[in-house]
Amino acid sequence: MKTITLSPSGQSVPVNEGDTVLMAVERGGYALPNNCRAGTCGECKVRVLEGEVDQGFVLDMALPQAERQQGYRLVCVAKPISDQIVLEWGAADAAPKLFPPRVDMPYLVVDRIPRTPRIVELHLMPLGTPMRFWPGQYVAIKAPSRPNQPRHYSLARAPRPDGLIVLQITRVDGGVTSTWLHENVAIGATLPISGPYGTFIGDPKAETPVLCLAAGSGQAPILSLADAALRRGYSSPVTLIFSARTADDIYGQGLLAYWTLKHRNFKSYVTLTREQRSGLLNGHIPEILPGLFPDLAGYSVFIAGSPAFSDACVTAVKQLGARDEQLNMEKFVDQNLGRHT
Ligand SMILES: Cc1cc2nc3c(=O)[nH]c(=O)nc-3n(C[C@H](O)[C@H](O)[C@H](O)COP(=O)(O)OP(=O)(O)OC[C@H]3O[C@@H](n4cnc5c(N)ncnc54)[C@H](O)[C@@H]3O)c2cc1C
Ligand code: FES
Repeated sequence: MKTITLSPSGQSVPVNEGDTVLMAVERGGYALPNNCRAGTCGECKVRVLEGEVDQGFVLDMALPQAERQQGYRLVCVAKPISDQIVLEWGAADAAPKLFPPRVDMPYLVVDRIPRTPRIVELHLMPLGTPMRFWPGQYVAIKAPSRPNQPRHYSLARAPRPDGLIVLQITRVDGGVTSTWLHENVAIGATLPISGPYGTFIGDPKAETPVLCLAAGSGQAPILSLADAALRRGYSSPVTLIFSARTADDIYGQGLLAYWTLKHRNFKSYVTLTREQRSGLLNGHIPEILPGLFPDLAGYSVFIAGSPAFSDACVTAVKQLGARDEQLNMEKFVDQNLGRHT
């Protein structure tokens, strides 16, 4: 059997038939940042120190030639060729942290709530053993018409004992999976769910003030992280700023109102970018942030939404003093970007 060894810790994981390098190390519980799982975003870049992998076709944008020559590979799509692969793996990451993902677990749709004209919320109950996951992680779903191109959806609540999971899905114009989930998946349907994936999980030991910035269904992973933090009695201030285009695009306010009343350290704001309403903020988050948070040194910052939203927020929070090591980001990247057909 092929084996992947992590260096310098010397820990090793077995490779199953058809595994990518990422699938094998995740099954071992190791947390490697990843996002698109399709060779397009570059987040899963790791140096292969020994052995050969089949990288397949990936764009230079995700893996520049100079980095390829230094041995870096995108492990979400790279498949082991040699029997022994050695990966450079920081000593701090040497202990397993993740719950091993499982593929095609049957989940029953028990509720379906239109949240905005473009976002539907699905509530799903496991028909088998509940999936164990960290708040902030995501699952993968395959539309029947496109079984080889799963799409990712963030888990929108912290784990619950009964295994219920909540997904918030934005309808993308012309989008195969999101349109199918909106139009064809009804209460009573069974969906094969794979996961959990991702490392947008925060540090359970941290006790810093927290600022969460979300746009659209980017609110999903943020709700999951905040839900978990508040439930476990996080005592530092937690602030959520939700950016929506218009009042019709606002959702989730009932839960946020409940958290505000129940937890004195929680506060939330809504800002509208395309209309003005009294009682709400107005403008894009990077524009309004300096007025609300002039100094973000010492804050842990969580950002989720489209790549453009996330990048603009990162620039803004860094200008206000947030440090790289306290920045956590979940970009909802378009998983088609690297495809050349
Ligand atoms: C880590 C991660 C977590 C995510 N979590 C969520 C979530 O909780 N809720 C949610 O609604 N979405 C989420 N997404 C986005 C989701 O995975 C899909 O990209 C989205 O639903 C579109 O898939 P589709 O099959 O409908 O569109 P496709 O059929 O793949 O694409 C149709 C058209 O839309 C464009 N397109 C595709 N994806 C996007 C995109 N993300 N943004 C803009 N244009 C796009 C394509 O270029 C193409 O022109 C997440 C993505 C990632 C990487
Ligand atoms: S997760 Fe591998 S390139 Fe995006």
